[in-house]
Amino acid sequence: MAFTFVCRAADVPRSECREFNAGGRAIVVCEYAGEYYAHSAFCTHLSYSLDYAPVRDGQIECSWHRYCYDVVTGKNEFPGERGLFGDPQLSHPVAPLATFPIERRGDDLYVDVSTTVALP
Ligand code: FES
Repeated sequence: MAFTFVCRAADVPRSECREFNAGGRAIVVCEYAGEYYAHSAFCTHLSYSLDYAPVRDGQIECSWHRYCYDVVTGKNEFPGERGLFGDPQLSHPVAPLATFPIERRGDDLYVDVSTTVALP
C-alpha cells in the first residue's frame, strides 16, 4: 500500500464531495456521518465530474442525471432497475465508482490509489 497525502480534513465540507489529485489520479473525497471516503472523480454513467456532488442518506448524487452511489462501497444504487424519466437509457445500473482506502492521520487525509476497496 502506498498512501499519499491528499488534503486536510478541513478541506472537505460536510456531506459534499471535493476533487483532489492523488498520485496523479483525480479522486473525490467526501465526509459522511463523521467518516471520510475516497472515490474516482467521475460518474460512471457519462463521466460527469463528482466535484461538489452532494452526499445524502449515505449516497453520492451525480448532479447531471441524479444517479446515486453508495458512499461506502461506490455501488450504483439509483436509478438501477427502476429507471428514470421513462428513458430506457436511464434504466440499468452502471459500474460502481472505484473506491480507495483512506486514512485520517491527525488533521490530514491519506489515500491509496494503487488499490481499490472490494465491494461487499
Ligand atoms: S453523468 Fe452522472 S448521472 Fe449521468
